Amino acid sequence: MARVRSEVPQATIVDIDKESVWHHLVQHQQFDKTDPMVIVEGQGMRIRDAAGNEYLDATSGGVWTVNVGYGRKSIAKAVHDQLLTMCYYAGSGGSVPGALFAEALLTKMPGLSRVYYSNSGSEANEKGYKFVRQIAHNKYDGKKHKIVYRDRDYHGTTITALSSGGQNERKAQYGPFTPGFVEMPHCCEYRCQYDDATNYGERAARELENVLLREGPDTVGAVVLEPITAGGGVITPPEGYWETIQEICRKYDILIHIDEVVCGMGRTGKWFGYQHYDIKPDIVTLAKGVASGYAAISCTVTTEDVFNEFRKDPGDSLSYFRDISTFGGCAAGPAAALENLHIIEEENLVQNAAEMGGYLKDKLHGLQDKHDCIGDVRGKGLFAGLELVRDRATKEPMDESVLMKIASECQARGVLVGRTNRSLTGYNNSILLSPALIARRGDIDEIIEALDNALLSVVPAG
Ligand SMILES: Cc1ncc(COP(=O)(O)O)c(C=O)c1O
Repeated sequence: MARVRSEVPQATIVDIDKESVWHHLVQHQQFDKTDPMVIVEGQGMRIRDAAGNEYLDATSGGVWTVNVGYGRKSIAKAVHDQLLTMCYYAGSGGSVPGALFAEALLTKMPGLSRVYYSNSGSEANEKGYKFVRQIAHNKYDGKKHKIVYRDRDYHGTTITALSSGGQNERKAQYGPFTPGFVEMPHCCEYRCQYDDATNYGERAARELENVLLREGPDTVGAVVLEPITAGGGVITPPEGYWETIQEICRKYDILIHIDEVVCGMGRTGKWFGYQHYDIKPDIVTLAKGVASGYAAISCTVTTEDVFNEFRKDPGDSLSYFRDISTFGGCAAGPAAALENLHIIEEENLVQNAAEMGGYLKDKLHGLQDKHDCIGDVRGKGLFAGLELVRDRATKEPMDESVLMKIASECQARGVLVGRTNRSLTGYNNSILLSPALIARRGDIDEIIEALDNALLSVVPAG
């Protein structure tokens, strides 16, 4: 008989894990001397590992995911009930939670009208790329097939998602990549590429026009961008940036694909990151916070115009969207997502993210006044990044090894923080904070205190 979880001693679990599991994004030789952290329990903002350590999780599950916090009985019940009623049918058919969640989600996204389900952020983005490629074939003789992405953005881990990624360390050694993806420069004002930063937002956005003119606008179908770059260092776009991007896209007939995998579902203090800016996307992708990690689900959401491109010609047997994602048909995903959305609404978590985000930002600026190594504080809502430097005047980036020590000092003080990890050579120098949207002032004070003390212990000169 299979072993029941409670029958296995927790120390043994760590040994079994060490012997059998290949962890994500981890160099395993460290486990010759240390143990992997195996998380056994979570409640609210807090988790406990198999060694009995308790942590305040300021990362929402390591990667901006558990937006409504751990231990939500109502989501577990919704999934339980759905699995007993109807666990799965392929996405060529429908399901009750699939229909209800799509309807509820679209009320938060005026201008968008169709939801395509799959089960990871990478996959959701690839669906968007396939829309663009197929529209190019059906409407533009295959010509308008290129997709522009931005330096420092990340859109996922599959080879094609990586091909659209602007993080050199995530891409290194995994080429050759899928052709047809073209990079544009980043928009991090703190790392301004020009001698003069005047009008930086518009100038950085004009780089898109430069790329289009270089490639030929008739060869480019879309631009894919994070509304606020996440793993590339929490880069809040400068004023005027998004408006100029939209103006250029309209001028050259380029679809706007916004990757909301991190920012979506309230993280930034609005339902979606793009809603901070006056823009109308054509394609929006969602994953992590959609069901807060209680079940796997991702969504590629589009306008009716994009959708209609695939239903125009029933006489052409190849012109509709011939794509399937087996697990996009799992009913647990939308069941969890629907309850997740109800929780966000009922508990006013978008508003809480905005308010607590303001409080967090003030506190981080307070830390910046105290610690010279904090060069820049960025982000919106409960989504923040601190770029650390060796010298404020020269902005020389802090070495990644120092950030590793700061994160482990925070952990020793009972708080888990994130950091840029194997993203950009020389610029893995940001501490990342993304507590669950249920965070209260006391939680934020605890995070700040741990960070303050960790900085004091690792970078004593401040
Ligand atoms: C902005 C962004 N897009 C896409 C992805 C890929 O999502 P997944 O890991 O679910 O494939 C990530 C993952 O971190 C992400 O940060």
